[in-house]
Amino acid sequence: MTSHDGLPDWFALLQQALHANPQPSARYLQLASLDAAGAPTCRTLVCRQLLAPGTLVMTTDLRSDKLRGLQQNPLAEACWYLPARQQQFRLRGTLRVQGSGHGSSLREALWDSVSAATRQTFTRPAPGRRLAAAEAFERPAPTSIPACFGLLLLQPQRVDYLDLAATPHQRQLFEFKTGEWHSRALNP
Ligand SMILES: Cc1cc2nc3c(=O)[nH]c(=O)nc-3n(C[C@H](O)[C@H](O)[C@H](O)COP(=O)(O)O)c2cc1C
Repeated sequence: MTSHDGLPDWFALLQQALHANPQPSARYLQLASLDAAGAPTCRTLVCRQLLAPGTLVMTTDLRSDKLRGLQQNPLAEACWYLPARQQQFRLRGTLRVQGSGHGSSLREALWDSVSAATRQTFTRPAPGRRLAAAEAFERPAPTSIPACFGLLLLQPQRVDYLDLAATPHQRQLFEFKTGEWHSRALNP
């Protein structure tokens, strides 16, 4: 199931939903994965970019706990609610991590695109560790991309879409199987 421009239908729906939700907070999604002990863990991330035909790009600190769990199990699910038309997307797939070793121009472009305040966070002590001394949070602004700045690339293989604006509500499941996207309607 692809639209006339060759994009999977869910991706076209997501692009349209973002167009209808231009406010920056609409870029926040919740990303669930398993931690290093196999327990569920979920956090809010900013989706910085959508790459056609079907990848969500986030940035993160590669020293953060989520990376340890993802090394063991790269499966993750993003849950993204876009309020203007009451649409929920649940996007499940494998997460790829891109750090400094990948020579990625996308990583450089995203570093250039984030705010100075966000860049500064990558000079600070590793997230999730015991609180460091106050001076450790007062490092100069980075002049090059810190090694801990990385990308998370989510390529969904399954997208569960819910439209609460329709009456009755509508739900569609998109699955990538045997090399192509299939879709079917579900009871909401
Ligand atoms: C509105 C909002 C946006 C956030 N955006 C990001 C982000 O883009 N990348 C990120 O790594 N963490 C972001 N965070 C922080 C994460 O939710 C989380 O606290 C952090 O990534 C550590 O998660 P972990 O311990 O599971 O690795 C954001 C938090 C909030 C509340």
